[in-house]
Amino acid sequence: MSIETSMDERRWVRACAVGEIPAGGGRQVTIDGVEIAVFRTSAGKIFAVVDRCPHKGGVLSEGIVAGERVVCPMHGWQIELQSGSAVAPDKGCVSKFPVDVRGEHVYLDVTPSDSSVVPEGALTSRRPIVCDHEAPLLEVTRASERVVALSADDLRARYAVRDVPTYVTTMMFGFSRPVQWSGVRLCDVLEDVGGDALGATVTLHAGGTERALSRRHAIDPRTMLVFEMNGAPLAPEHGGPLRLVAPFLAGHESVKRLARIELCGAAISEPVLSAPVARKESA
Ligand code: FES
Repeated sequence: MSIETSMDERRWVRACAVGEIPAGGGRQVTIDGVEIAVFRTSAGKIFAVVDRCPHKGGVLSEGIVAGERVVCPMHGWQIELQSGSAVAPDKGCVSKFPVDVRGEHVYLDVTPSDSSVVPEGALTSRRPIVCDHEAPLLEVTRASERVVALSADDLRARYAVRDVPTYVTTMMFGFSRPVQWSGVRLCDVLEDVGGDALGATVTLHAGGTERALSRRHAIDPRTMLVFEMNGAPLAPEHGGPLRLVAPFLAGHESVKRLARIELCGAAISEPVLSAPVARKESA
């Protein structure tokens, strides 16, 4: 929730907690419909600019932070976070916002002014990620018969949500940037829905494709069902709304846009879903 304060008729709005910005990375917040990239350098300085590259609108919050610059993930322009200007020979400028860190909280001055006004066209035009928390996100089946369908709310309520900090490599430029996945352990879900009767594999269905996952990998506590990235619903381009993340598997084996898990092996007993829990833990 945004908290607003007024000092000298300036409008300061709480953007996020300091700890919600990965060190040496960025995250996106939305204030008054404007997507803003908030960065924390490895030296701990915090900057905020409109989350749109002045070149062709790349999402700057998904770029890599190097010193006090961010490298746009689209075509590699570098933007000075202090000034919002593109580094020569590129030309362009992105609107920036004064930042005030109050304890653990990051406030942005969103008062329209010459330096912080959001130019026309900078308001979000990308379709927001709509997350219907109550719609089934994952179906678990056995012999193609539904065992259970779980929404995002179900996953949150029934299993401990865990954060997994990691690095994602941007193929085009070959650099890595820190991201934080959030989700639940696959083994917790399987335990609920009859994992005691798992066969040698489970089958992961995503769109029209399917991939077998060995029982050993399925019950490994590092295997996660992820539905958030950097605190926001997982976007389709990152494999959302639900994907597998397993650090010991090749990238292409971490199934994206996961919709169904088929259990192999005969059921011994009716699945007994656990009581909802409300906690968040590190993986
Ligand atoms: S959109 Fe950012 S460099 Fe092209």
